[in-house]
Amino acid sequence: MLLRLGPTLTLFAALSLFFLTATGSSVAVGASSKEGAQPPTFEIPHEPVSKLTASEQRGASLYAYYCAVCHGKNGEGDGFNSSELSTPPAKHDDAAFMSTLSDADIAKVIKGGGPALGRSADMPPWGRVLGDRDVASLVAFIRTLSKK
Ligand code: HEC
Repeated sequence: MLLRLGPTLTLFAALSLFFLTATGSSVAVGASSKEGAQPPTFEIPHEPVSKLTASEQRGASLYAYYCAVCHGKNGEGDGFNSSELSTPPAKHDDAAFMSTLSDADIAKVIKGGGPALGRSADMPPWGRVLGDRDVASLVAFIRTLSKK
């Protein structure tokens, strides 16, 4: 068994040596072309990886653009416009409140505005601005706000 692995190990060692030499020599070339230059260092960027699905991410962008002015960036009901309204904007981060709404309710109120669900007209209708796909993405994103 060990004997049979012999050739494979030799090949592996040879390849490793080849790559090490190749890398080593390229660094050496770089260093010699510039006096006293440090070997290049590479940093892998640590971007926060989104846990949202593609649709939720789309909804997040739409929400930030159209809804956050009243509902707040994270759905806390504290957008800068909220103090101007006679009805406080719904808190989309409130799980107890959000559980009283079905996805169809949320879509309906987004398209038709507050009155579509018997609520205040301070919640504007978006049916002429946003298409069905936008509305579906918003529903998906809004659901993530109360799942923390
Ligand atoms: C001009 C301010 C304003 C903007 C902009 C706004 N909303 Fe609202 N929204 C409100 C207010 C005020 C209410 C609360 C209505 C009530 O309780 O009678 C509300 C309520 C809601 C509700 C809960 C409805 C219910 O049954 O109580 C949802 C869902 C909602 N908004 C989604 C959105 C989405 C999605 C957007 C962006 C496309 C958006 N809103 C933009 C003011 C706004």
